[in-house]
Amino acid sequence: MKTVTTLEALRAETDQLRASGRLALVPTMGALHEGHLTLVRKACSEARHVVVSIFVNPKQFGPNEDLDAYPRQLARDRELLEAEGASLLWAPTPDEVYPAGYATTISVEGVSAGLCGANRPGHFDGVATVVCKLFNQVRPDMAFFGEKDWQQLAVIRRMARDLDLQFPHADAIRGVPIVREGDGLAMSSRNAYLSVEQRRQAAALPAAMRRAIAALAKGAESATALEQLSSDILKAGFDSIDYVELRDAETLAPIHGPLDGSRLFVAARIGGTRLIDNMPLV
Ligand code: PAF
Repeated sequence: MKTVTTLEALRAETDQLRASGRLALVPTMGALHEGHLTLVRKACSEARHVVVSIFVNPKQFGPNEDLDAYPRQLARDRELLEAEGASLLWAPTPDEVYPAGYATTISVEGVSAGLCGANRPGHFDGVATVVCKLFNQVRPDMAFFGEKDWQQLAVIRRMARDLDLQFPHADAIRGVPIVREGDGLAMSSRNAYLSVEQRRQAAALPAAMRRAIAALAKGAESATALEQLSSDILKAGFDSIDYVELRDAETLAPIHGPLDGSRLFVAARIGGTRLIDNMPLV
């Protein structure tokens, strides 16, 4: 697996790879875990060549967020990707992605509003902007994203449709189901921030979500089930809740009536760490 850090080298390598088969892109910010590797494996099973990008995108971090602290472990990530059979690692510097004079931002309305968009102003503008650039840089036939960031996936799909980004197939932007630890916690690079005690407490989040979903399936009122869920999360040791919401899985519109097609979304903070999760209703 080669590593390239300049656009010029990326273009040369991807032109060559594309000539001999389908090219998949797995965009990441590194600090790879089993969730990312699942994306890479899925991509390897569907495309001849897999390009993985590792870029901690400054534009998607707010002023008080963890840009500087975000885990960076390129050598280890490289070994993991090599073992999975990825073809190319695209690891640009911030200056390569946003050179002096860079001035363009992509803003996707609607699906970006609410949920993480409300708590992290500008976050999805940063995501949409960098993902659009990654699509243009790599020009993949398909791209793979984790469903843990369900809203992010919705934003990227909306952007690709709205900007007529060209892919050979309609379902080129693929979502891959959340990969969970043995105790149910959704895998995330940010789990590395948790102390041993916080890590133990964090498992209560998906467990409480499952209980809420079971209560809803038995006919509980949405407001009652969500209140109970919030109370369970705080009792388990979380410090605060950013949101606990039911939204339409496709449009992300808030749910006011019947729950068909809706999904449960949660973001909560433990210590300085913000964890998100989402699950379908049963
Ligand atoms: O999900 C992520 O890791 C990032 O938001 C992404 C899609 C790589 C864009 O920086």
